[in-house]
Amino acid sequence: MQEKTFIMIKPDGVKRKLVGEIIGRIEKKGYRISRITMLTISERTAREHYAEHKDKPFFNELINFITSGPVVAMVVEGEGVIEGMDKMVGATDPADALPGTLRFDYAVSKTFNIIHRSDSAQSAEREINLFFS
Ligand code: PPS
Repeated sequence: MQEKTFIMIKPDGVKRKLVGEIIGRIEKKGYRISRITMLTISERTAREHYAEHKDKPFFNELINFITSGPVVAMVVEGEGVIEGMDKMVGATDPADALPGTLRFDYAVSKTFNIIHRSDSAQSAEREINLFFS
């Protein structure tokens, strides 16, 4: 089924010059990038984006990190792209990420893990609307 997902290269991925590498993997997989922008997220947008984690102990650290520098936000489209991008990104904790995933190859911690992907069709719609409306 043709789907859309929201992908964001986090500030550590941009600072480490991984934008080309990540976009290359997405394109070589055959997915289509239909929207793309570089921006520094406001605290308000960050809190809305991560609202489901507001009671977690790491919430403030997450907001400080995601607003700390430019990110690259994208809408990625393709057959089964939500699950496909979840597999390409890998587990939140790089210690659990499988070889060949972006987080196995590049992430250093649960906070500094270079990339965000939507975890469901509902999240994708909400996140795309937040960043591209
Ligand atoms: S949880 O605890 O299962 O809800 O965590 P998860 O859904 O895997 O990730 C939530 C996002 O918060 C970021 N983050 C952390 N997660 C877990 N533990 C710690 N200490 C932590 N610090 C930050 C994590 O990178 C996830 O961000 P996204 O952008 O959704 O990948």
